Amino acid sequence: MPTVLVLNGPNLSMLGSREPDVYGTATLQDVASACAATAAELGLSTDFRQTDDEGELVAWVHEAAGRRLPVVLNPAAFTHYSYALRDALAMRTAPLVEVHLSNPAAREEFRHASVVAGVADGTIAGFGVASYQLALRAIAGLLAARG
Ligand code: DQA
Repeated sequence: MPTVLVLNGPNLSMLGSREPDVYGTATLQDVASACAATAAELGLSTDFRQTDDEGELVAWVHEAAGRRLPVVLNPAAFTHYSYALRDALAMRTAPLVEVHLSNPAAREEFRHASVVAGVADGTIAGFGVASYQLALRAIAGLLAARG
């Protein structure tokens, strides 16, 4: 069963209590459970992780490249300024889908730019927990297309 790394950046451990009007009331554990259930439907398994640390996230992206693992990534605030993360993702060896719970394009100006989007297969934003589930479906489609 192919494994998908589902990686989450800073402050996402606080989901549930973090600005619920923006991010909803689901906890990160709820997101992990929803991802595991959707992955199982698709014949995939998930390795779900969160960090507040840019270096740790970059190390996980290196690991994904080395193991040829597809990635669903919510880079959180790193989306908007981490060239280190973007450079790491550019080395990817398998599908990559960027996800956001909220729709950054409809929020503050600084959230409108993603330095990650240009090295991803695509971006899914604005659908809450379903953004992750849609991303897993996209990954399954990309894996199937690659044979
Ligand atoms: C986010 C959007 C980012 O702008 C923000 O910094 C986050 C969460 C989202 O999932 O909507 O931390 O990535």
